[in-house]
Formats: sequence, C-alpha cells, structure tokens
Amino acid sequence: MEIFKTIDDIKTRLSQLTGEGKAVGFVPTMGALHKGHLSLLETAKKETDISVVSIFVNPAQFNDKDDFIKYPRNDERDLLLLSQHFCDIVFLPSENEMYPEPDKRVFDLGSLENIMEGKFRPGHFQGVAKVVSKLFDIVKPHKAFFGQKDFQQLAVIKRLVDVSGLKIEIVGCPIIREENGLAMSSRNQRLTPGEFSDASIIYGTIKQLPVKLKSTSLSEAKAWAEKTINSCPGLVTEYIEMVDNENLAVIDNLTHTHSFTCCVAVFCGKVRLIDNIQIFL
Ligand code: PAJ
Repeated sequence: MEIFKTIDDIKTRLSQLTGEGKAVGFVPTMGALHKGHLSLLETAKKETDISVVSIFVNPAQFNDKDDFIKYPRNDERDLLLLSQHFCDIVFLPSENEMYPEPDKRVFDLGSLENIMEGKFRPGHFQGVAKVVSKLFDIVKPHKAFFGQKDFQQLAVIKRLVDVSGLKIEIVGCPIIREENGLAMSSRNQRLTPGEFSDASIIYGTIKQLPVKLKSTSLSEAKAWAEKTINSCPGLVTEYIEMVDNENLAVIDNLTHTHSFTCCVAVFCGKVRLIDNIQIFL
C-alpha cells in the first residue's frame, strides 16, 4: 500500500498508473474507518484496477464546531485496516495541503440544500461539494464509491458531477449495519453502551414502515415513527421525511408513488445519527 500526503506526489503516481491504462476507483472518507467504509473499498477493488482511499476530516463541512473537534481520528488504525484490506493507495493530506487558502467556490446544488440535512446543517453540503470536487480533481477517478447511508450526500455528489461536467461514474453502495440494526457510522464510537443499544430503535422503527403503510396514511405513519423513536428517553427525532428516490422531493401522498425513501435524523444523547430505508409498496 502506498501512502501519499501531498497533492503533487499522488497526482504524479496516479498519472503514471492511468498512463498504463489502469482504471482508478476512489473512496473518499473522513477516517475512523469501519465495515461500511471497507465495503466501499471492496466494491472499488472489484470494479476498478487501482483503489484509492482518502482520509481527511474536512473542516468546511462541519456546521457544528464541537462536532468537528470531537470527530474521531485514528490514522494509525485506519492505515492498518486499509493495508489489511489490500487498498492500493491512501491519500492523507493535511488541512494546509487541502486548503492553503479558503475555498470560496459556491456550487449550485439546487433544492438539495434546502431539505433535510441541507436544512438542518446549513453550509454542510457546500463544504462536502468543495472537498469532493477538489479530491476528484486530484485523483481523477474513473469511478467513485459512496454509501447510501448518506443518501442525500449521494444525490449531492451526483449533482456536483452533473453541474461540473465531470466524467466520473458515481456508484452508490448499500448501508452496512451493526448486528442490532444501527447503521455503521464513525460517530457511533461516541455512543455509550446504553445509547448504542437505544439507537437500534431508529432502524427497528423505520423498517416497520412498509407494513404500517398498508393500513395507515403517509402522515400517520410518519407521526407513528416519530413518536415510537421519541418514546425512548434519550432519542430525539430532528426530522423524518419520505422523499423521491431520485430528486429527493418530499412526498406527502402515495397516489403516484410506489417506491420512495424514508430518511431520518435523530439525536441520541449528543450524537446526531442519520439513517434511511427504501420503501416499496
Ligand atoms: P464518511 O462519513 O467517512 O463516509 C465516507 C463514505 O462511507 C461515504 O460515502 C459514506 O456514505 C460511506 N459510509 C459511511 N457509513 C456507511 C455505512 N454504514 N454503510 C455504507 N457506507 C457507509 O461521507 C463522508 O465521510 C464525507 O462527507 C466525505 C464524502 C468523505 C467528504 O468529506
């Protein structure tokens, strides 16, 4: 496994490899790696010749400073995991390498910025777009792999590729869960054992929605899910929305829709968790 810390060095190595006709698969991460990240690497390895993983905790996408400070970091462990999973190339830049000066670009993300994560984390997706656009420019991947766990982020990345006219195939990969159903996340490390167990109620609840929707309206089902999650002391739902699978427009009745996605954000103590499930009726 090769590790690069500077933009120039990784660019030189990758242009050598692409010159030899190798297809590059890219997995951007913020580290504190878990099986969700590793599943993206596995898919990248299957679908391309050279796997590149970046680890960079991107300050531009944290609207909450405390969340940035408390975000788990463990480069040594991450590098060990990546080498054990046969990653070819790791990009581990410093903050100064990525942002020698503030990136003032503004991306046209359309309505994605005003709903759900966009609404409750102002500026978050502009920060994601900035760093991913910069990383794409450095790595120039043929394919890039993103988790469906961050369903709205995946839509933002597809839009970024679209509006920037990039020729990168964006591959969405399934959500990897803990045994208790909780979606894996680096932030889960911050949960106490009790909170970790409580947090399983989030997926435990939304996965019942398809059955619930057989006998109730969308708004009743939504209200039921919110009440069920919030009935656990320590869990507070920030939002629960049913949205179009493609454009993420909020759906408020089922007249024309048979498949959509339910997205939730829930505070478990001080840790903010997101999850989603695709529903077929
Ligand atoms: P991070 O939260 O580290 O996630 C990196 C990638 O792993 C994302 O594509 C995310 O959707 C995916 N992922 C996380 N948990 C997953 C799970 N349980 N199952 C499947 N995939 C999972 O998302 C980011 O970092 C950043 O916003 C980033 C794109 C790197 C830009 O800074």
